[in-house]
Amino acid sequence: MSNRTPEFDAAWTALNQHVVEMRDIRLKDLFARDNSRANSFQEAIDGVVFDYSKQRVNSGTMAALLGLAKACKIEDWREKMLHGQPLNITEDRAALHCALRGSAAKSLMIDGENISHFIRDAQQKMRVLCEDIHNNENVTDIVWIGIGGSDLGPRLVCESLQDFKHEDAPNLHFISNADGHRIARLLKTLPPTTTRFMIASKTFSTSETMLNAHTARQWIATALGESAITQQFYAVTSEPEEAEEFGISPTHILPMRNWIGGRFSVWGMIGFPVAILLGFERFQDFLSGAKFADEHFKKAPLNHNIPILMALISIWNRNFLNYNTQCVVPYAQDLQNFAPYVQQLEMESNGKNVDREGNLITYQTSPIVFGGPGTTTQHALFQMLHQGTQVTPVDFIGFIHPNHDLEDHHAMLLSNMIAQSEALMRGEEKKPNTPSYSEFIGNRPSSTFLVERLDPYHLGMLMALYEHKVFVQGILWNINSFDQWGVELGKKLATPINECLTQKGNPDDLSYSSSTKNLMKRILSKNS
Ligand code: F6P
Repeated sequence: MSNRTPEFDAAWTALNQHVVEMRDIRLKDLFARDNSRANSFQEAIDGVVFDYSKQRVNSGTMAALLGLAKACKIEDWREKMLHGQPLNITEDRAALHCALRGSAAKSLMIDGENISHFIRDAQQKMRVLCEDIHNNENVTDIVWIGIGGSDLGPRLVCESLQDFKHEDAPNLHFISNADGHRIARLLKTLPPTTTRFMIASKTFSTSETMLNAHTARQWIATALGESAITQQFYAVTSEPEEAEEFGISPTHILPMRNWIGGRFSVWGMIGFPVAILLGFERFQDFLSGAKFADEHFKKAPLNHNIPILMALISIWNRNFLNYNTQCVVPYAQDLQNFAPYVQQLEMESNGKNVDREGNLITYQTSPIVFGGPGTTTQHALFQMLHQGTQVTPVDFIGFIHPNHDLEDHHAMLLSNMIAQSEALMRGEEKKPNTPSYSEFIGNRPSSTFLVERLDPYHLGMLMALYEHKVFVQGILWNINSFDQWGVELGKKLATPINECLTQKGNPDDLSYSSSTKNLMKRILSKNS
């Protein structure tokens, strides 16, 4: 690694030496040799147990990894984040998502504004709008239009917490993709007079969101007239003038600030649909869970600090054991959007090839994150997890208490989760005279989160633990986790292509490859 202190280099070298002795180690043997392994490699905080005893680590590994964290001065970086220093150096912005749940320094001023006051006032406005919606029988449906961080967080939370729905909450629909099939189909089912649209875009310029917003606007204007736009539309944005120009009333615009990254924004105004679904009180429970995780992250010693341990294990797997994927499997169908959420959180934050000093880096950063809910994914991706040629570490997430009383369902769900982690770890040797395809090599690492219940509080806690993990990874990799320049080129190249596909340009005038031009011409010839 470049641009690091001698302490960092020494810690990295020690891990490189340690991994040589760990490569041949069998997890099964580690368990056989040490009766207390399960207890030694687990942490428990308020209703969440994190068991990492099935990772390929021993006490020497953890000591060496903690040495790396100390060499990176992770505690100083944590303070810098919570005190609003501009960690996002390429855009000169702070990363203050923790402030949205009351965990940052109270007197913080950013751009001349007291951020505690900003958050208090914004929450108050959200509460009033939320109660207005609950009290208005003439609102039956809400369509939330946003993409990336303006979609994945609220979509995940709303889908996961249906069991906690407020009795007056209207139906919620999420539209993110530019693909018109979804919005076209949805609009056919909605009553214009009782439908409200919420445009969620920090920049109020993201092309997919604006296209969907204009389609919705046209639909309302056609059905009810232009004058209806002010009442039927809301916005969540850091660009209120743009939203007003669109026709949205200032009373319906909830604010965002640049010190909140899109993928970290569900705790603020982007959480509006969550507050509508749950009611404002339960939305506070969601924030309290995250706040508890913040307190733990701030105060627990490094060797008992769950997000730090999560990050260290991921660095171990990625940079020393050379695993390039990470699978996330919550045993809860309602968490079907957890993997896409973690995907954006990790891959957009830490999929970087330049360090904080602007140098190209030579080590691996974000793994490919994928996954889906158990048990259904067992019937799709687990063949590869057990017998594929590459090893994929897995995060299992299970909930002790279900929100229903079908006990046999829940027992089956959790049995499968535990069995899978055991099977990945121990494998099964080939018996004499049996075919080789019946062999399971095993020794495949996983962590398990055992959570009290899938409720607002514990979901908030779990999501915040993953956020902090991603922050720690970024510090150890010496990258900026809070920008996303890698998404820009594709957007830029799409604009002239879009012009050609909408008959406003000629593919031959573009300096794109023949493949790209051919594809455009094929589409155009079918259109004409
Ligand atoms: O394209 C990536 C991205 O900038 C994400 O980081 C962000 O969450 C998403 O687009 C949406 O951005 P906005 O809220 O500005 O529409």
